[in-house]
Amino acid sequence: MEMAGADDSRTPTTASSRAVARLRAHRLLLAVAAMVAGAAILVYDVPMAGAAAGLLILAGAVAFGLGGAPHRPPDRPARTSGTTPVWPDTGMKLVVDVIEDPCFITDGTGIVRYQNHAAGERFGMARPGDPLSFKLRVPELLAALERVGRGGDVEAVRFAERVPTERAWLARVAGVRVGRREGRARTDFILVRLHDETEMMRVERMRVDFIANASHELRTPLASLTGFVETLLGPARNDEVNRERFLKIMLEQAGRMARLIDDLLSLSRIEMKAHLRPETSVDMAQVVGQVIDMLGPLAEETGARVVRTLAPVDHRVRGDRDELIQVTTNLVENALKYGRDGGRVDITLTAEKGPDGAEGRLLTVRDDGPGIAPEHLPRLTERFYRVDADQSRRRKGTGLGLAIVKHIVARHRGRLSIRSTPGEGASFSIWLESAPAAAAGAGSAVRPGPAVDLSLDRH
Ligand SMILES: Nc1ncnc2c1ncn2[C@@H]1O[C@H](COP(=O)(O)OP(=O)(O)O)[C@@H](O)[C@H]1O
Ligand SMILES: [Mg+2]
Repeated sequence: MEMAGADDSRTPTTASSRAVARLRAHRLLLAVAAMVAGAAILVYDVPMAGAAAGLLILAGAVAFGLGGAPHRPPDRPARTSGTTPVWPDTGMKLVVDVIEDPCFITDGTGIVRYQNHAAGERFGMARPGDPLSFKLRVPELLAALERVGRGGDVEAVRFAERVPTERAWLARVAGVRVGRREGRARTDFILVRLHDETEMMRVERMRVDFIANASHELRTPLASLTGFVETLLGPARNDEVNRERFLKIMLEQAGRMARLIDDLLSLSRIEMKAHLRPETSVDMAQVVGQVIDMLGPLAEETGARVVRTLAPVDHRVRGDRDELIQVTTNLVENALKYGRDGGRVDITLTAEKGPDGAEGRLLTVRDDGPGIAPEHLPRLTERFYRVDADQSRRRKGTGLGLAIVKHIVARHRGRLSIRSTPGEGASFSIWLESAPAAAAGAGSAVRPGPAVDLSLDRH
């Protein structure tokens, strides 16, 4: 927020009291209009319009101060015309009241004269006469306050708060001159606006970490590929036996890079349409059937028994078929890869109401493998997070599967829950809202009796 200084103008003293009253009324109207326009520009953050907003607000504030003089509450000292005003204008207060960021107005020496609601909520109320340093013990900010108080330009100061929680703030400190400049060492008021940048910094850190991780994941197979190409061109040029072995490893590494790129592209595609909720009707019973067929070879490899149990209801949900196949594949593949060799993987579909009472379906994939220690559970859906990176790589994992699952479920406005007791396996559940037709017909579709165990074993 920027504010520019403006010169005061005088109230006519020779006009009749009626004329004065009319003039004040007009000024008041003009002032309110200017301030509302200025506030609107600020609130909607029109780019490059900070200065214009500041001018409008200030013009409004000055006019308001003149036109609104008779409305000043009696407990406030009257402004001594031409010298330093003691209280911020009502207009200035109105403006900071509509700003969502915490704002303080101090006098030129840093004594708090006003604070908006957000500042009160975030930093507590300052007592009359307290300096801002009682609320914000940030040396850089207080130094900026001092410079601005002495007539310096607008300043921006970034600082971090450690207690009660870690927060990143950007403080903008702007001087406001209300009356004539002559003979005044200090600005009349200082506006300190604090913008919470914690979330922005977190997203930025995530972005940087993500790029570093993705580059590292791509670099490793690339380095291996380059190494083998060099070997094949050099020392192993005529080594018939090793050539084939090396070429196989190279193919594997190229496959790893391709999987990673596929998963990265998947993630970015899902993220791009994150705000668009899929609307088509997808039969989850069919999806489960298709995934079981697709993963047949993997189940065979690990010797696991895949058991499917479907409640006898219509399993159509609101969703995107390809994405729901991707979700189900990721979960069943994980259960097969990280579960017990020769163990059992249960896939169940049941009817369950959502938190707001909406009709829905719950897909649960459960294995009887070693499970996951509790400290890993909250981080499993982070990109590239693996409990055991070597095991994941050996099993052709990218560390992105559950991140993709989380994003798809979020786009579907569904819920993902993970449960595990170490030594007793892991269970991943996804709730999805029923398609309107399935929800409407749910009652008639349900046959009495227990859930039917279709138990389609792979073996
Ligand atoms: N059913 C499971 N049992 C035990 N650990 C699991 C299971 N599913 C996922 N994990 C752990 O979560 C990690 C992340 O899974 P995921 O995001 O699908 O990545 P990836 O399978 O590519 O490694 C896996 O590396 C594994 O350590
Ligand atoms: Mg996986």
